Amino acid sequence: MTYKFGKTIVIALGGSIVHPDAINVKFLKNFRKFVLKWVRRGKKFMIVTGGGSVARDYQKAANAVISLSDEDKDWIGIHATRLNAHLLRTIFWKEADPVIIDSHSKSKSKRMVFPVTIASGWRPGWSTDYVALQIASCFGARETIIAGSPAYVYTKDPKKDKSAWPIKQLHWKEYRKLIPAKWKPGAHSPVDPVGAKLAGSRKLAAIIIKGTDLKNFDNLLAGKDFKGTLIK
Ligand code: UTP
Repeated sequence: MTYKFGKTIVIALGGSIVHPDAINVKFLKNFRKFVLKWVRRGKKFMIVTGGGSVARDYQKAANAVISLSDEDKDWIGIHATRLNAHLLRTIFWKEADPVIIDSHSKSKSKRMVFPVTIASGWRPGWSTDYVALQIASCFGARETIIAGSPAYVYTKDPKKDKSAWPIKQLHWKEYRKLIPAKWKPGAHSPVDPVGAKLAGSRKLAAIIIKGTDLKNFDNLLAGKDFKGTLIK
């Protein structure tokens, strides 16, 4: 499968690849080189960082002390995404906009003057996939790349069911039947239910790829054959 991008590349960069259980420094070094190579070729990047294990560990710890509402768990997660966003902003200090898009209002007032712009989580009730899809819609991109740990969307959860197989292309309607209908803090669907609904109504596409496979990521941006799932 191949895909053709415009000038702006929107990426939901999974916290699970930036910070699986410690910061993945090797990945960040390679990812930086990869982004800068495509900047030199004229692309602009919008990178939305997830929370990874920092989000989940803090959510779990707080909830073990006192029973938390979903909203409180989400706020902890949002702050984890902000920390990862600052990490990314710092490693692109020369190329990235100094202002991190951490709210919807900031995304509305922002213009993409820098080659790289970083965003974090915004509000309780969804994940950074939703933020990335909102940003794509705001900045005129037709799609978002979901670069997380799964390489594809699968028919079932492959961690729990060995009979799960990868799906290469599907429509949002079919995708929404595969995932839980309601949002849960810390949930792990390739695209969260709120994001899937938004993408369907705004006719946005999502491309799910394994974020750590930068060779495959490079093929995707180059319009070459890539491994992953296209949802539209
Ligand atoms: P994500 O679920 O987006 O991070 O945010 P992630 O680590 O990239 O997830 P993977 O890699 O896809 O598994 C972490 C948590 O932060 C809260 C949610 O609780 C979410 O589970 N969050 C994030 C929000 O409530 N709102 C946001 O806009 C973003």
